Amino acid sequence: MVFIPLSKKTSVGSRQEIEEGKAKIRICGGVFYNPHMRLCRDLTSLCAGAIGKRISVADVMCATGARGIRYKLENRNVDELSLSDISQKAAACARKNAKLNNLECKVSRADAKKFMRENSFDFLELDPFGSPQPFLHDAAHMLHKAKESYFSVTATDMPVLCGAHLLACLKNYGANPLNNEFCHENAARILIGRTAMEFAPFSLSATPIFTLSHRHYIKIVFLVQKGAQKAASSIKSLGFVSYCPSCCWRQAERFPEGKRCPSCAGALQIAGPMHLGELWDRKIAQKMLSLNKERGLHGWEEAGKILGAINEELAVGSCFYWDLHTLAKKTLRPIIPIQKAIESLRDAGYKASRTHFCPTAIRADAPHEEILRLVRA
Ligand SMILES: C[S@@+](CC[C@H](N)C(=O)[O-])C[C@H]1O[C@@H](n2cnc3c(N)ncnc32)[C@H](O)[C@@H]1O
Ligand SMILES: [Zn+2]
Repeated sequence: MVFIPLSKKTSVGSRQEIEEGKAKIRICGGVFYNPHMRLCRDLTSLCAGAIGKRISVADVMCATGARGIRYKLENRNVDELSLSDISQKAAACARKNAKLNNLECKVSRADAKKFMRENSFDFLELDPFGSPQPFLHDAAHMLHKAKESYFSVTATDMPVLCGAHLLACLKNYGANPLNNEFCHENAARILIGRTAMEFAPFSLSATPIFTLSHRHYIKIVFLVQKGAQKAASSIKSLGFVSYCPSCCWRQAERFPEGKRCPSCAGALQIAGPMHLGELWDRKIAQKMLSLNKERGLHGWEEAGKILGAINEELAVGSCFYWDLHTLAKKTLRPIIPIQKAIESLRDAGYKASRTHFCPTAIRADAPHEEILRLVRA
């Protein structure tokens, strides 16, 4: 355990105390706390609970400690908790907050990279400013010590992952992004793909069990399993998406072939490598929904709405949502109401739902020509 004792002189000027989930959190001067990330903490805490089996949690960029403290307070399956942060002020604040919530846990001031190399926990929480990519290698170092573990990671560099900064995405994630209507799903898939590639040489698979896209960030929780075969199967789920910006045709492929759109002969754009498999574990997502109702913590309605949408979209099971506004613009037709679009597709025998990624989009297993027929009808 890396432990840098906190200086007795460290001053943690307290500004206010708030309640979040089951925790009381003192917001200390100079320590990062974002109230807009509460929903992310709500949902990730539910995910930690839905895992069910006993876990030890390390929150290695803890700031006030809000995440780790909530995971422990709200979930009986969390045994041990360790909070750490590189900032002296943050570590002192997290220690105060642990005490405020009557929690016995280790709190240390530590660089996350060093901490992850030297320690072993079953659930690693990594919540950096911006891109998590510089920390993925050291995360694999921590996680390869166990046969099975969990990795919860946040990325807030959405302009990079969504294709506004092409070179930064190539450099940081080794992937070509797409600045199009389903860029948020691409962003999640690129981060998952990058994590799988970083973990595989450690003989670790990285299977997403929960994916969230909200505001300016994405959050992924992975099941990480040891084994060469498992690691290889994570890599086999990587591929590319070919996309036509003229008519929205798209295709997920391991090795893209065509240069021209088969629907309108327009030039295709290609993004990836990215994860092309499932984004959620069905049982975990259902369990999160039921736990959320049982607990009824403050803000549970908003979490319930997102979990409801996620449970519907995962049952559809196809990659890349269809944005009705973009389709209307490209086909020069009026925007079709979302409920009507879903019902028409269902009536025609397809699976269709809303998607939590975008309020104006649907997820459907219908082919492109069927979607165009619907929009032009
Ligand atoms: C986005 S904040 C974490 C927010 C917190 N998880 C929450 O939900 O309230 C990022 C934190 O990472 C810390 N940090 C930045 N670089 C670090 C590093 N290399 N090692 C450990 N902590 C680091 C910062 O001091 C900051 O407190
Ligand atoms: Zn086309």
